[in-house]
Amino acid sequence: MDAMRVARLRPPSRPRTSAFAACLAATVSVACDAPIGELTPVASTLLPAIGATLASLPDGRLVIEREDAVLVVDPEWPEREPVVLGAPSLVGRVRRAVRRGEQTFVLTDRGVFLLAHEAFMRAPVSDALGAELLDVVRLEGPAGPELWVATRDALYRVVGERAQRVDLEADLADVSLAVARRPSGAEALWVRLPGRVLELRVEGARLEAARVVLERTPARIEGDANGRVWLVHADRLESVGADRRLRDHGPAPARLVISAHGDDVWLLDADRSRVHADGELFHLAGFRAPPADAPSTVGADGALYTVHDGRLERHAVRHRVRVSGSPDGAVIVRPLEVRIETDGADPRIEARVGDRALEVAGEPPRVVLAPGELGDGLHTLELDVRFADGTLESRRRARFEVISRAGWAGEVAAIYEQHCGDCHGEAGPANTRLDEPARWRPIFEVILANVRDGRMPLGRAPLGARDIALIEAWGLAEFPE
Ligand code: HEC
Repeated sequence: MDAMRVARLRPPSRPRTSAFAACLAATVSVACDAPIGELTPVASTLLPAIGATLASLPDGRLVIEREDAVLVVDPEWPEREPVVLGAPSLVGRVRRAVRRGEQTFVLTDRGVFLLAHEAFMRAPVSDALGAELLDVVRLEGPAGPELWVATRDALYRVVGERAQRVDLEADLADVSLAVARRPSGAEALWVRLPGRVLELRVEGARLEAARVVLERTPARIEGDANGRVWLVHADRLESVGADRRLRDHGPAPARLVISAHGDDVWLLDADRSRVHADGELFHLAGFRAPPADAPSTVGADGALYTVHDGRLERHAVRHRVRVSGSPDGAVIVRPLEVRIETDGADPRIEARVGDRALEVAGEPPRVVLAPGELGDGLHTLELDVRFADGTLESRRRARFEVISRAGWAGEVAAIYEQHCGDCHGEAGPANTRLDEPARWRPIFEVILANVRDGRMPLGRAPLGARDIALIEAWGLAEFPE
């Protein structure tokens, strides 16, 4: 982002109160807080942790602090080695993390950092925008993901490598941002300013509309993973979903814990905590809220994570479902067996790929993704898991690709040319020649072993999963031309 250009957008024509703001006020529904049900959260202790930093990343991992380092851990696999980000003094207190493409931007009280390929560095956007960064959100724009960054001076829309400045003619000292879902499903930006909340809409490169959606200033606004915006007032809690109806959730809780990555919203109060899940509010039976000063966040799985008594704890209204065999992002050529593990008793599991129901069998339960039955292309494995113990359904999704057809001329020759040809051709230097399909057959298993463990291509970046799958599919199909 070094080449960031800062273009000034035309300031919006003075925002007018829209008919929409009036409509919001008229559709307050107060019945929403009626106790619809009760849930019994499940709790588990995951890891030793200390300090004040706890934030959830878009990929489901958590940023936590431990003695002299800030770490990234995967709460789904707490037994795996954490990734070290750096010293706490370097990173500071994490406020928000957003993803754009391969990169995750982490806003802390020390600036904006970039977390990409397991490394953590200062994001150029920090320096390019100059003034202190107050908030950052990710919005799915008409042409792809955008970052919106609020500084003390202005609001910036960052698309690709460019930042556009949006002048709101307002005092931004206490600004905050939230992503709201519009009835059309598109996302829009809400900006909390003194005396009002604005909704901004951008068409192409132009700021098309800035309209007042609320003529009050809540103490805080925050968007959740479903595009619902939560408005925390001094005494009440309200929210607005894609239907654009303002809902009243009663007295403001002592703490509201939300994440833009997780489904469930936690309303913590000493003795009457609630959770907003699957569009409804539930009271939490027998749940003791963590102390007010215990760092807390909601993970991508909707669970409440909190650092308390030197441990990272997990509270959830859904059981954990994890799948081994890493189907997510996999490219499969032959049948893949996926094992399903949960932390609850007697799971009832429904497994589907598209319209096709998969058989779940064995202990632990397993499903088989069979390329022949599913057909080539991109698929999503959907697991819905129910328990009879007062928890909500757990859902797990994994996207994968099936490749069963590959030929030398169509696919493998191109991989050879690009990654192997300058060493394994007629001129050497390697003795093993691979320039004709017939030469692959006798040493096929050796070739596969070499590209899988990255020994080949020698001294270069390993082949991607898709290229390896294409080679394997070609061999399985008996090396077609
Ligand atoms: C930079 C040069 C270079 C590139 C690129 C390269 N190789 Fe090699 N490869 C070698 C050398 C050198 C050897 C060792 C001599 C030999 O066995 O031919 C070797 C050996 C091999 C062997 C034999 C290993 C064994 O244990 O017998 C296989 C199989 C192989 N390469 C496959 C590939 C494939 C497939 C690619 C492309 C995806 C590739 N190599 C890319 C240089 C290269």
